[in-house]
Amino acid sequence: MRIVHFSDPHAGGGAEDFFAYFDKRAVGVFNYKFRRQFRHDLTKLSRAVEYILDAKPDVAVCTGDLTSTGQPGEFEKVRPILAPLRDSGIPLLYLPGNHDCYVKRAKCVGAVREMTAYLSKDDYRFTDLPLQREYANVEFLLLNTSRPSNLLCSWGFVDKRDAKWVGNVCEEPKNTPRILLSHYPMIEEHPILRMRHRLFGQKRILELMNKKKIDLSLCGHVHKPYLKVDSTGRGECCAGSVSRNGSMVEIDYSPETDQFTFRTVTL
Ligand SMILES: [Fe+2]
Ligand SMILES: [Fe+2]
Repeated sequence: MRIVHFSDPHAGGGAEDFFAYFDKRAVGVFNYKFRRQFRHDLTKLSRAVEYILDAKPDVAVCTGDLTSTGQPGEFEKVRPILAPLRDSGIPLLYLPGNHDCYVKRAKCVGAVREMTAYLSKDDYRFTDLPLQREYANVEFLLLNTSRPSNLLCSWGFVDKRDAKWVGNVCEEPKNTPRILLSHYPMIEEHPILRMRHRLFGQKRILELMNKKKIDLSLCGHVHKPYLKVDSTGRGECCAGSVSRNGSMVEIDYSPETDQFTFRTVTL
């Protein structure tokens, strides 16, 4: 069973309406114009798609931050790049990032919802999350931890209802590996240092990971890829930013050895 996991392409652009100068998008657009556009290269996302189409994994996973401020025009920049993958027959599991859920403005909320339905070919909608899927005898838990937060912070939240849902799913007998997909890392080793960018409410999920009720967490948000796994490959894998580092991860699960193995793909 093979998964290819990529994250955080961060397409961007200018303010798309007058109100964008007066909400959090002003910060995000400024950040994009003076910093992000020089660091993120969307041609690497195109190369990632070409690689995946060639590798034909059982599942492709994108853990969010397609955009910089969640404006419709930014989603439109990634749509034609991801379209061949979306139409390839390889299941594409997309979880929104905090930059895709940047503000509460109706057109931006509508854009992330439309993109979620589009990429899943209407298999699931933004409002269906959290949800469970199974491909090639591996179970996936799709969890949305992203929502608009204040001007200076990029906080994520596992809300109580979703934590309870994960707990209930994990109480069921487990015969196949179980992988949690979310934009935010569950493991936070520097909660104080990373206070502005961290996730809240994941305590129950960490307990389930420690008990191996959840085998693996796949995430993005942190733009440098990392692997925090034990000798069987159980733990957490962050794909990093595909457009910044040109990195993504190929993950294999072998039922014979009950092991996950990881390979970083450099684009
Ligand atoms: Fe990001
Ligand atoms: Fe993020």
